[in-house]
Amino acid sequence: MISIRKVAVCLGVCFAPMVFAQQATEPNFVDHVAPIIYENCVECHRPGSIAPMTLIDYETVRAWGPVIKDRVVRRKMPPYFIDKTVGVQSFEDDRSLTDEEIATIAAWVDAGSPQGDISNLPAVPEFEDSVAWTLEDEMGRPPDLIIPIPEPFMVPADGPNWWMTFYSDTGLTEDRWIKAFETKPSAEGFPVVHHAVTSMEFPEGGGGFLSEYALGKTADINPPGTGQLIKAGTRLIWNVHYASSPDGLDRTDRTRLALWFLPKGEEPEHELIRAHMADNEDLDLPGGEAAIRTDGYEFLDKNIRITTFQPHLHNLGTRQCIEVIYQDNRRQTLSCADWDFGWHIAYNYAEDVQPLIPKGSMLHVTSWYNNSPSNPWAGDSRNWVGFGQRSTDDMSFSWISYYELTDEEYEAAVEERFSQINSGSD
Ligand code: HEC
Repeated sequence: MISIRKVAVCLGVCFAPMVFAQQATEPNFVDHVAPIIYENCVECHRPGSIAPMTLIDYETVRAWGPVIKDRVVRRKMPPYFIDKTVGVQSFEDDRSLTDEEIATIAAWVDAGSPQGDISNLPAVPEFEDSVAWTLEDEMGRPPDLIIPIPEPFMVPADGPNWWMTFYSDTGLTEDRWIKAFETKPSAEGFPVVHHAVTSMEFPEGGGGFLSEYALGKTADINPPGTGQLIKAGTRLIWNVHYASSPDGLDRTDRTRLALWFLPKGEEPEHELIRAHMADNEDLDLPGGEAAIRTDGYEFLDKNIRITTFQPHLHNLGTRQCIEVIYQDNRRQTLSCADWDFGWHIAYNYAEDVQPLIPKGSMLHVTSWYNNSPSNPWAGDSRNWVGFGQRSTDDMSFSWISYYELTDEEYEAAVEERFSQINSGSD
């Protein structure tokens, strides 16, 4: 990979680290940048997917170079906004770039985006837009229940962004435990569906968050020993973000949610719950202000193990943090993430770092908002904004997935965590 010229210049005076340093400051597209882009970007930045441009051939990537550098340096792309400097740092499905990858892209753009030897270009990854369920193999059978949005939804080529709420009857006649779920836009709808979130409404009230889809995360198998309860007569509430297709075509979507159940009669050890936490509905977001903060609290009367953190704000949101306040007033930040209303992202903690929270603790969620012209999502920043359901109103809470632990289970989980740390697998 090191050019003959560089080797020649180094002859006699260079040693290995210097060669590497030189290589790192002069990256080229073929050897250094294409592997990063193909691995992390083309899933969305390719024909027939959701992003506005493809990032496959050298000429196009070079032309977009300065914008790419800006987005990756500010960690706006790929869309995964967890703050790398605070809190828990190990996630499943973490799609963010490493500091080295970001530095490589930035250095490449600064160096004038050299191509390298095009005959060494790595193969462009292939994607299957098939409508088959990806979990089918792993679960060993087709889904037990498939629930589509109620009607096909047409997204015109030149339409605005849509945030649709739909209701679907599940037709369930008995209570079941969900083992796994997968959300899929229809083949034609694939490029226009940015995210799809579902929650359940039980006939007698209650329910909760069920699933989250954003491109790249289609399926979940609930952690071993857990399941989600779905009751007979449940109504599904959809929240789907549609955006016009980058290929300029009208497209009709019929997104579906597929469920796999635990065998009848089998109860999971723990019920996995996805719930709003630390709601604050007393929002006061004055027009023209760029850094407004709100706080929400949730008292925990049970020990819990948190599996997922998903901030929830609307147009004006910019960032959310979640911390735990223990009974002795010690505080620990669990996570912070920036917010972009175009992306609803669930941050799934890796199993060995899922926060274990003792009962009697308080979850504290802090959210920040920008109601000034510097926020492109702000409608008219002369206006005051408060709490409400429209995306031009705002909200403040976290979706938290968790399961409860008895005191014994909690002690055992803490002990296991300490022994992991002591054995050096931190
Ligand atoms: C999960 C899908 C997805 C992934 C992965 C992704 N992008 Fe994007 N990207 C989008 C979408 C959708 C947009 C347009 C909406 C937005 O900006 O949020 C976009 C916008 C952009 C823009 C701005 C385009 C403009 O017109 O201003 C750049 C630059 C960009 N992406 C670069 C990248 C790079 C580089 C990577 C990989 C390191 C990447 N993206 C990964 C979906 C994705």
